This record gives sequence, structure tokens and C-alpha cells, in this order.
Amino acid sequence: MSRIYNFCAGPAAMPLEVLEEAQRDLVDYKGSGMSIMEMSHRGKEYDAVHNEAGDNIRKLLKLPDNYGVIFMTGGATAQFSLVPMNLLPAGQSADYTNTGSWGAKATKEAKQFGQINVIANTEKDFPVRLPEVASLKFTPGAAYVHLTSNETIAGTQWKSFPTTAAPLVCDMSSDILSRPIDVTQFGLLYAGAQKNLGPSGVTLVVIRKDLAEKVNEKCPMFFRYKTHLDENSLHNTPPCFAIYMLMLCTRWLLKLGGVDAIAQINKAKAAKIYTALDVSGFYKATAVKEFRSDMNVTFRLPTEALEEQFVKEASAKGMKQLKGHRSVGGIRASIYNAFPVAGVDALVAFMKEFEQKNG
Ligand SMILES: Cc1ncc(COP(=O)(O)O)c(C=O)c1O
Repeated sequence: MSRIYNFCAGPAAMPLEVLEEAQRDLVDYKGSGMSIMEMSHRGKEYDAVHNEAGDNIRKLLKLPDNYGVIFMTGGATAQFSLVPMNLLPAGQSADYTNTGSWGAKATKEAKQFGQINVIANTEKDFPVRLPEVASLKFTPGAAYVHLTSNETIAGTQWKSFPTTAAPLVCDMSSDILSRPIDVTQFGLLYAGAQKNLGPSGVTLVVIRKDLAEKVNEKCPMFFRYKTHLDENSLHNTPPCFAIYMLMLCTRWLLKLGGVDAIAQINKAKAAKIYTALDVSGFYKATAVKEFRSDMNVTFRLPTEALEEQFVKEASAKGMKQLKGHRSVGGIRASIYNAFPVAGVDALVAFMKEFEQKNG
């Protein structure tokens, strides 16, 4: 078997032991004679998986009882619509921060449903950055405030979150469970699973329960958070296999020591690459220091031709998917929870070698 170092921004690397366990159980799940993909989502084997997945999320995020966990489909993109459909009553407005490609998409979609106040716009700033928390001016009476905790393409990450009178809604797709957060600061969190939680196909929503009650009357039943909350995400057939994988990934994280433990590892991994960038006159980090993401490290080389050569040579050495997003170019190393420290060390060594040859 040969596994490469996979720097993909998502779907992203998963823990090897999780993949191996899934492989062992794929054909005959725990002596049932069936795959987890083949059995009823209302049977006892799947029920245990489903409930453990939810319980693991509760433990990892230290959720108080007044927060619910929902597993949905449609990715974070569906949440761009579902959030305003559920939480933006007619005649009210919502505050959005446009901080990059994902913040912009969330904002654009929300505008279809009502009045949106863009209270910060750093989308086009370069070097890439985020708004200062203290500078944010919230709209009195806004139904909620939306932000994107980690801009996956730009490589920026909010290091602290504002305290808001209106519920804070956050797209945490690319840094959920990567560092401790105080969940009570938020009304709703959502994240597509395919970076830090497991495979694509399932979306995690964590919601303060009272917010689910305020649903817009015109919202179709299936698109209401309340429907899925009340029915433990079993209103219809859930994405069973993706939830099973999420359960294994969250079990893996709990075994490792939970969010506090992985946050230390993540910080150390990111610091190794940022230090290599900062001591070099050849590479240039694209994000302003205080907003640098620990999940997606973005940087440039002196020319696009050198960037192309860098990606090609790294790939030949088993370091794959380092090319920056097509909309911004450059290099992006995505180093989520499951990405191994050894892969970061290999990248840093390669960066030095490449600079010596080409700098
Ligand atoms: C921050 C962020 N939000 C939203 C999305 C879109 O997620 P999905 O493809 O699950 O809809 C992504 C995907 O990379 C993302 O990084």
C-alpha cells in the first residue's frame, strides 16, 4: 500500500485508522452479515452509529442541553439558503460579513430572501485579511449575524468571534473541531463534513433549539431545522454511510484527546510552514499574519512558472494537491485535523530544497 500526503482542501485526508476500520467492516458490519450501507436506517445497528455520531459531536463541542445536533444533506451550500429561509422573518434584515469567496457566496444567496446588510467586506483585499472584530458595527434589530470562520480559498481564519446581540451564525466548514470554541457565543453553526468531519455527503448543523422554533411559516417542511431536530435527523433516509464515517472520525478525535489536543497539533503544524515562509525571501505568505489560517496555508512563489514547477515536483515526491484554488492561483497546503505531522515536515523540507535550487 502506498499513501501519499494529500493536501487537498476538500474532500480531504482522513485518518488512516478510520479508513482501515471502515474497510474491515465494509462487507460485514459487526457480524450482521450486511454492510452498514445496506441496512435499514431504523434498525438497531445503524441506530447505534447514528446516535454515537451525535453524541460524539456533543462531547467534542461541549454542547449544553439547549443546543441540538442535526445531520443534513446538500453541503454547506444548501445552508446558504436554509439559514435565511429559517431565520430571516419577512420585514427583518440580517448582517453578513463578506470575507472571501465563501462569505461572498453566503451573502449572495441570502440576498434572495430578504434585506442583507453587508457589515464588512474584505473579499478583495490583498494580502488577504479579515475585519477587526472590534470594528464591526451590527445593525440594530437584525435577525442574525453571519460569518465564515475560515476562508478556505484565501487562507484566513477568525481568531476570535464577536459577541453579538443577534444570534451569530457561522459557516465552520473548514475549521470545525480544529480548535476550542465557546459554542454559546453562536446561535447556529454549520459545516460540510468533507474537511474535518469525514467524507462529503453529510452536513453538520448545530443549532440553539429556540431558534428552530422561530421558523418562517412559508418554509417547506423538509427545509425546516425543526423537522430534523424533532426527528433526530431521521425524517427521511439520512446519508448513512457518511454519518458512519463521521462517527468513526469523531471517535478517533475523542481518543486523541478531543479538540484541545488537536488544536495544539494543528497550531504546531501550521507554525512549521509559516515559519518556513517567514524566513524565506523566496516564498511569500498571502495572508496578513494575525488572520492566517491554521487549516489552509496559502503562499506564492516569485513567478507562476515556478509555482507550476513546485506543484509538479512536490507531486512527484508524493505531496499532492498543493495547487491553490483556480480563482486565486498560488500554492495552498490544506492541513486539517487528519493531516499528519510527517506530511508537514516533508513539505517544509521540500520547500527548502526547492528554494535552494531555484531561489
Ligand atoms: C468555508 C466553506 N463554505 C462552504 C463550502 C461549500 O461546501 P459544500 O461543497 O459542502 O457545499 C466550502 C467548500 O469548500 C467551504 O470551504
